[in-house]
Amino acid sequence: MKETRKLKAVIFDLDGVITDTAEYHYQAWKATATELGIPFTREFNENLKGVSRMDSLKLLLSQAETPVNYSDEELVQLADRKNKLYVELIETITPADLLPGVTEFVADIRSAGLKTGIASASKNAIAVLTRLRVMDQFDVIVDVTKLKNNKPDPEIFLTAAAELGVEPADCIGVEDAASGVDAIKGADMFAVAIGNAAHFPHADVVLSSTAELNFRELAQKFEG
Ligand code: BG6
Ligand code: MG
Repeated sequence: MKETRKLKAVIFDLDGVITDTAEYHYQAWKATATELGIPFTREFNENLKGVSRMDSLKLLLSQAETPVNYSDEELVQLADRKNKLYVELIETITPADLLPGVTEFVADIRSAGLKTGIASASKNAIAVLTRLRVMDQFDVIVDVTKLKNNKPDPEIFLTAAAELGVEPADCIGVEDAASGVDAIKGADMFAVAIGNAAHFPHADVVLSSTAELNFRELAQKFEG
């Protein structure tokens, strides 16, 4: 950890942090699992948060009582099928779907002169941010298709910091997935987790919901 840190940017995960698309990912995977006759619970779904589309599919298929060997082409078809369901679900998104506290938190960060970024593993991130009408609230949206490594690798958060022109140690990362918190900590950033504290042993701060996001309080905790 750098000795003198100065808060310069806040980098957000999208799904489950800015809006509740984590629920839509769950519903689309649940429908896919049901079609395939594979048991799929909300508890198991926690393992899929922050995980790429194809890796999520492979995790889901690992739950089959009788494992099936799918060809690469079949795997792509199954992932496409899930994505089609997901894309249908996000068509209904409006600015009213911003999670509680998010609009004010982002506004406070920006009016304090800090930068904001999005570090989402989703290839649908731009579509979701556009529907929420918040594209102009973020200085950088990392293009996940250009990355080599998935969360928990820190690459996505390091890329966001580099594109924002700030040092990783001067950033707060906000996540709702354990893999995402590990990516933030791997990037030497201050990690704020949203959700059940039991899921986030490595976070610096855990908030039970986005409604608790408070810029002044977090900035104080960051400065230590
Ligand atoms: C992450 C979600 O943000 O994006 C995962 O937490 C999802 O659940 C991943 O699998 C990839 O999203 P997409 O939209 O590219 O399938
Ligand atoms: Mg998330």
